[in-house]
Amino acid sequence: MTAPRCDTTEAWAALQGHFEAHGREFDLREAFARDPGRFGAFSVEAPEVFADLSKNLVDTATMHFLLDLARECDLEPRRDAMFAGESINATEGRPVLHTALRAPRGAGPHGDDVHGVLDALLSYAESVRDTASSGFTDIVNIGIGGSDLGPQMVVPALDAFCHRGLNFHFVSNVDGHDITPVLRRLRPQTTLFIIASKTFTTQETMANAMAARAWFDDQGGTDRSKHFVGVTTNLKAAADFGITRTFGFWDWVGGRYSLWSAIGLPIAIAIGAENFRALLAGAHAMDRHFAEAPLKQNLPVLLGLIDVWYRNFHGFTSRSVAPYHQGLKRLPAYLQQLEMESNGKRVDMAGAALPFATSPVVWGEPGTNGQHAYFQMLHQGTDVIPVEFIAVKRPAHDLPELHTKLLANCLAQSQALMLGKGADAALAEAAPTASASFDKAVLAQHRTFPGNRPSTTLVLDELTPRSLGSLVAMYEHRVFTSGALWGINSFDQWGVELGKALCSQLLPRLSSGDTSGLDASTAGLLERLTA
Ligand code: F6P
Repeated sequence: MTAPRCDTTEAWAALQGHFEAHGREFDLREAFARDPGRFGAFSVEAPEVFADLSKNLVDTATMHFLLDLARECDLEPRRDAMFAGESINATEGRPVLHTALRAPRGAGPHGDDVHGVLDALLSYAESVRDTASSGFTDIVNIGIGGSDLGPQMVVPALDAFCHRGLNFHFVSNVDGHDITPVLRRLRPQTTLFIIASKTFTTQETMANAMAARAWFDDQGGTDRSKHFVGVTTNLKAAADFGITRTFGFWDWVGGRYSLWSAIGLPIAIAIGAENFRALLAGAHAMDRHFAEAPLKQNLPVLLGLIDVWYRNFHGFTSRSVAPYHQGLKRLPAYLQQLEMESNGKRVDMAGAALPFATSPVVWGEPGTNGQHAYFQMLHQGTDVIPVEFIAVKRPAHDLPELHTKLLANCLAQSQALMLGKGADAALAEAAPTASASFDKAVLAQHRTFPGNRPSTTLVLDELTPRSLGSLVAMYEHRVFTSGALWGINSFDQWGVELGKALCSQLLPRLSSGDTSGLDASTAGLLERLTA
């Protein structure tokens, strides 16, 4: 499908005019003063996720032009093509069907395959969870990128739902400092290794899998077929490795979209079959919302449109994610792969270099920790960085006084970013740590906050399998939206290939010390590391 690229549309030109006339100087404080209904007008209710978009640098006209842009770029037909299983990942000649993984039986493509594997996977997960019979105490997932980040993000997020007799470990890095401390604490008799790799060729995963297998044998482990399980599309490679129990998936599941597939095995073991199905159901509810809600009430669409507005008109280069829930501590890392591997592209589908920017840098830490690290820059730095707050109404612990403080902090930060503080207000305040001899007017400049810094706040009632499923699917579809407007292929990742190829060429040189033909810097570093 060839659809117009965003910069060739009338809406794009209209947005440029609108930005010059009203966007560049837009002031949130004035917008709220002008419109007492702004919160209601710019908040959206989607399955399990409420979003306050009102603290973004947009007005009704901005959203009107952005929605025109979505229509002119054929966002809806493109979205429908994805759900229908068309080969929208054209450079790899593949459909993109992670949505089929969470469609109820009979409701999505490849239903027999999907539900056949899902049933077997969940039945196996339950057998592992029966620790009296399985004997397992420790589950080690060995995988990287999409074969690691999803389970590594979800398992702690759903700690309240996790099996209390099982410990989960995630080994990804080819750095031996990753697996060594994990193995040191384990016994082969009680450990299950999950070797998770879509391709079953990834250097890091294969190296760690071999290290785990050698450790298992050295420590007197017996019955490898019980203690090693594979999750892959490459069943033959898993069999060649000596794995007899394998759960498959398909090439139409992208690595960074794969936590819903057999790659979710650690999650299923942690939270059990019923909760895993709830995770899928939450994602499916968001799929239906994305597929059916009118564009102007469609949360992933609205978020993707605001992303384009910020990246291409305001020129903001990054977005910070601040989950005010410690369980979501790995969400920023998960979103980095999801968004930056998907939309970090510089050519359009036709291979033409893009004259506009694509993926922002996505980064963050849980609140309130980030407040004591880099929020200084968010409030007073020279760059404007939109922040995405995630608040959860009801905690899973019974320390309500802590939760109230957490929520107050979350609200205070978005308020402070927006309101700022003028020099007059700063001058009128006492500053306990200020030098008594320092000029007070100058000090007030240091203590001024420009404000008008945008944020989005997402609110979940509770962090449950269902709400987490919806939240993650919302992010997937938001990435789809901005990628579709930019006219790029959000589903390939050629940018990871060059480094892999050069690594293979350098590997023997680290043993031989041969630097012939290398650039001077690489040669010098190699000598330094091998001498
Ligand atoms: O880093 C590139 C990448 O291909 C990711 O897209 C993928 O999630 C990761 O490597 C792991 O790949 P595999 O699951 O095949 O081991």
